[in-house]
Amino acid sequence: MEADDRVAEKNYVLISPEILQIPRFTPKINLGVMASGNGTNFEALVNSTKNACLDAEIRLLIVNSHKCEAINRSKRLGIPYLILDHKEFNSRSEFDKEIIKQFSIYNIEGIVMAGWMRIVSPTLINAYPNRLINIHPSLLPSFRGANAIDKALNSNVFITGCSVHLVTPEVDNGPILIQAAVPIFKSDDKQTLLERIQIQEHRILPIGVSIAAEAWRDESSQG
Ligand code: GAR
Repeated sequence: MEADDRVAEKNYVLISPEILQIPRFTPKINLGVMASGNGTNFEALVNSTKNACLDAEIRLLIVNSHKCEAINRSKRLGIPYLILDHKEFNSRSEFDKEIIKQFSIYNIEGIVMAGWMRIVSPTLINAYPNRLINIHPSLLPSFRGANAIDKALNSNVFITGCSVHLVTPEVDNGPILIQAAVPIFKSDDKQTLLERIQIQEHRILPIGVSIAAEAWRDESSQG
């Protein structure tokens, strides 16, 4: 076996649960996305709706800073976006009320926090019960909160990963929808590990959203 093959073989990941069939929704799920930074997960979500891995339409992106690279992605991808600067609001709750108001215009069924670096208040969580989804760069319940990748690197663990979960009031503690395990190599630094985790984030986020959306539609069909 060539050295390159051994490295490739070592880049194993484990994704669970395994989804054998991508759920279809009629009509498509209407989604809102919130992002604070680069927006690679936002772009992966949009792409998954185009290549039929996620039977949804992304109606609106909300970002909380003019500096978010996600804005440029949304322009390129043709998704409407709105900049809501949290610093212009008196409280988390006031900020979240504006988010609710904006998403309600677009008839959003669920919201994906794709790299949203603000703690959300019960105002938003209660407006979208079990319909607010977050992605976090660790195998929860390990390494909750900020700097999860640094925490994993500093903890001498050999495996970390990423998790897609429903949002509840306690940060990074809601029911988990799907996870990917990612090995940590001796040579890893924050950047190399982040890159490998994000490859898996982009795979599991659309699946996690589909899993959640099945429950939303079951709920509405039962009246
Ligand atoms: C992602 O890695 C996501 O897991 C993380 O922010 C990154 C955003 O990347 N989220 C958190 O740490 C939330 N606590 P992106 O802007 O390229 O999608």
